[in-house]
Amino acid sequence: MSILVTGANGQIGTILTRNLREIYGKDEVIASDILRPNYDDDPFLMLDILNVQRIREIIEDFNITEIYHLAAILSANGEWNPLKTWNVNLNGLLSVLDLAREYALEKVFFPSTIAIHGPTTPKIDTPQDAPFMPTTVYGMSKLAGEYWCNYYHQRFGLDVRSLRYPGIIGHDSLPGGGTTDYAVEIFHEAINRGHYTCFLAPDTRLPMMYMDDAMRATNELMQADKTKIRIHSGYNLTGMSFTPAELADAIRVHIPTFTIDYKPDFRQEIAASWSQTIDDSRAKEDWGWTPAYDLEKMTADMIYHLDKFYSKKSN
Ligand code: NAD
Ligand code: SER
Repeated sequence: MSILVTGANGQIGTILTRNLREIYGKDEVIASDILRPNYDDDPFLMLDILNVQRIREIIEDFNITEIYHLAAILSANGEWNPLKTWNVNLNGLLSVLDLAREYALEKVFFPSTIAIHGPTTPKIDTPQDAPFMPTTVYGMSKLAGEYWCNYYHQRFGLDVRSLRYPGIIGHDSLPGGGTTDYAVEIFHEAINRGHYTCFLAPDTRLPMMYMDDAMRATNELMQADKTKIRIHSGYNLTGMSFTPAELADAIRVHIPTFTIDYKPDFRQEIAASWSQTIDDSRAKEDWGWTPAYDLEKMTADMIYHLDKFYSKKSN
């Protein structure tokens, strides 16, 4: 087995690459990105996902058998350049899917998202199949991507597996321009400054997940027996749901002096178009998904690790 991770230098890719290397061995997992990481990440290759010939060369040179295709431009950053976002997110995926078919790769992982939701999507316990009419180009590209994943599975038998990640929160990497980024930034600001100005309104409830749960869900999905995977577009998935005000309360349990104020910007409208809670019963039924982290447990773990990180840095 030889795995290629695209977008490996991002918030999730950094952790997923490390995690896959622990499971499959360092040399079996090739990290790639358009940006070079500022730490040792060997084996690492520069790869612009729009360079089809380069992906082909990597598949051939490294006998790639699986691709975890994370390269993308996220919901907030995507709005600054809609056509580029569509091109990177959708045409990048199409190249990966088509080369996976051509080289008969064993598996492809595609992270979808709650950003496929739109104003017509039911906001509470959003079902697996619901009306989706995303308002961001990021959401549009991910929804179209889900259709293409399903198409490649049905038409060519490609084993493509996908999760609709909620907002992902972790202490070991920084978010890359999404609408849920506040839920990571708030911890860094709480520890370093004791105050955070939130770009979402206090009552904006969104589905979220701790990085440890996201890694476990990804591994469990990818390692599940083929016969158990009945959805090849994107599985609904969730860990917890909270508002910025509730997260601030949870942080105050550990840092009682922490304060927060709110200056909602353009990301508020994006967040308001997404669901608040998710029904992930299909993931539970098909491959046994159960989250381990709720708001309190996630908050305690974030503060523990970031406290340690910043005290070490200042010594
Ligand atoms: P990120 O923005 O932190 O990382 C994305 C990476 O893709 C970056 O390192 C970037 O350099 C790279 N990239 C951008 N354009 C590229 C190109 N043309 N060629 C190659 N690489 C390119 O994002 P993330 O949070 O790590 O997300 C990873 C994946 O998970 C994305 O597909 C995203 O849509 C999905 N996802 C993330 C979340 C979340 O909360 N973080 C939620 C749902 C889905
Ligand atoms: N966390 C991501 C974003 O906000 C959701 O895919 O863009």
